[in-house]
Amino acid sequence: MSDRKILITSALPYANGPIHLGHLVEYIQTDIWSRFQKQRGNQCYYICADDTHGTPIMLKADREGISPEELIAQVGKEHLADFTDFGIEFDNYHSTHSDENKYFSSLIYERLRDDGHITSRSITQAYDPVKEMFLPDRFIKGDCPKCDAKDQYGDNCEACGATYSPIELKNAVSAVSGEKPIEKDSVHYFFKLADFNDMLKTWTTADGHLQPEVSNKLAEWLEGGLQEWDISRDAPYFGFEIPDAPGKYFYVWLDAPVGYMASFKNFCTKENLDFDEFWAKDSKTELYHFIGKDIIYFHALFWPAMLAGANFRTPSAVFAHGFLTVNGEKMSKSRGTFIKARTYLEHLNPEYLRYYFAAKLSAGIDDIDLSFEDFTQRVNSDLVGKVVNIASRCSGFIKKRFAGQLSTHCSEPELFQQFISANEEIAALYESREYGKAMREIMALADKANQYIDEKKPWLIAKEEGKDQELHDICSMGINLFRLLVTYLKPVLPALASNSENFLNIPEQAWPTDVEPLLSHDIKTFKALMTRVDEAGIAAILEDSKENLLKIAEPVAKKFDPIADEIEFDDFAKIDLRIAKIVKAEHVKGANKLLQLTVDIGDETRNVFAGIKSAYNPEDLEGKLTVVVANLKPRKMKFGMSEGMVLAAGPGGEDLWVLHPDDGAVAGMRVK
Ligand code: 2FM
Ligand code: ZN
Repeated sequence: MSDRKILITSALPYANGPIHLGHLVEYIQTDIWSRFQKQRGNQCYYICADDTHGTPIMLKADREGISPEELIAQVGKEHLADFTDFGIEFDNYHSTHSDENKYFSSLIYERLRDDGHITSRSITQAYDPVKEMFLPDRFIKGDCPKCDAKDQYGDNCEACGATYSPIELKNAVSAVSGEKPIEKDSVHYFFKLADFNDMLKTWTTADGHLQPEVSNKLAEWLEGGLQEWDISRDAPYFGFEIPDAPGKYFYVWLDAPVGYMASFKNFCTKENLDFDEFWAKDSKTELYHFIGKDIIYFHALFWPAMLAGANFRTPSAVFAHGFLTVNGEKMSKSRGTFIKARTYLEHLNPEYLRYYFAAKLSAGIDDIDLSFEDFTQRVNSDLVGKVVNIASRCSGFIKKRFAGQLSTHCSEPELFQQFISANEEIAALYESREYGKAMREIMALADKANQYIDEKKPWLIAKEEGKDQELHDICSMGINLFRLLVTYLKPVLPALASNSENFLNIPEQAWPTDVEPLLSHDIKTFKALMTRVDEAGIAAILEDSKENLLKIAEPVAKKFDPIADEIEFDDFAKIDLRIAKIVKAEHVKGANKLLQLTVDIGDETRNVFAGIKSAYNPEDLEGKLTVVVANLKPRKMKFGMSEGMVLAAGPGGEDLWVLHPDDGAVAGMRVK
């Protein structure tokens, strides 16, 4: 039918966490495309691998007391099992920690270097003096410089949304050792991306390489000028050492996309295929990368530049998709909507999700929403109610009344032809990744088939004398239409299609550009091909996801601290809370958060340091009342002795209240 040669990839998942439903949008999208291309008769290879390098993976292995190699071997197996059980059929699944990847990463680097596209210079970075390692931003934690929210990681605040440089975090510590980071210099290697400015301007705007909205976004970035890209990391780092720079390693994002090549090379060796036919500069084959919209920069700027600079072909296109929301919101651990692939598989048929995602996917980068109500409704109504129902309505009569054999002729050739003619439109929609539209087109055909059966009413005809031929023709027609529907759905629902092929007693179905109806053909006994969505399964997924993820959620800063352990009343009674009058309030030299207060608690004055500078000017406090813990053991602080504690309420930052508003309150009064 066609002699297209196509290589397609999905982004390589990090080997430090499980596959979740958010990931699956992409793998299902790509798998549908790959299966479609193969069904069309194209030579198509779907390649992927685990993305195994970098600091998070190194540290995770460290925490688990295993080597990074052991960790990535274990996670790689889990990933592949999850993908396989979701019907994702890779032609090769490899690892970026492989000989092939080391070879190509070094080769690309050396070619770029020899052509003058690599430069090096010393830079200053945060360094953990205990762990003896440089700290990536996300491993530095401290209080938000804008709102003082505690335990913020990296360069943005989860509480107020501010972005900043991690060195601006107050009370910054290394999330690895808890130690205060120091600043340290080291030499880094940079890829001179700006050398490829013209090439990228052409590449990103040339027809078909990128979706229009992506191309526009890139035009903005290109206008702003391209920065040099830091491609090296210092030891200790889990990755590949840079050939001419001992102790320096390739940054994970350098060798990750090279993993596409490496996995394909590994495949070529096993299958005796010609690698160069797909990757040489003059290659005539097609290369497509499916990715999430968050990693466009890497795939549409760095990667084509690296390939062009190293004398390889560039991608035919990069296809970005949106994120997954669940019930209209970002996946949430506490709501139980951060769902692991494995948790889903324990309770529901993976093909439901494949169909649902297909029904929601388009060629654009909009986010797609998984609403479980909509999910149930669509699967039940479309797949069970419309498609499978046709087979179950017709097959019983064929079996009982006609010994399992279809009629000798096609009674409605026009209707059959209508179904065949739809193949071009459906193929065009699959090809352009407009799967939602393709599903609607197929369901419109399913409606037609059901309408036909409803009009002919075989269940009534079956009761009439002398109408055997008519009954046979109607039911055979229904089965023939069902066969075409499942053939169109085959890229999306490979298991349903394969079980249907078995029931229909036919071989694997190619794309039906030109097929004849099944006549005088024996079919097998019908067995339920798909059941309705079990709502208890959905409830179980949500429940299990809450449990699973509480553990994973731990390191993430929470908006509210959990309620502390219960205490006895006697414990509470020990706290002596007093109304205090602030007689003096002053700044503390060298302290970011503290004010020094002199408070009158009735019989005496106390010196108290309070972390309320973000909310109050000292002059506004003088003369006001507050509540203090009067019997807190005096504590020696860096700035002096604190003889009590001021109580405050509120989320922090400017919203922090210490003053007791009651006019009747008098300094020294007990609060309870
Ligand atoms: O964002 C991610 O999950 C990366 N692991 C994707 C890498 S894609 C490719 F470049 F390897
Ligand atoms: Zn903040």
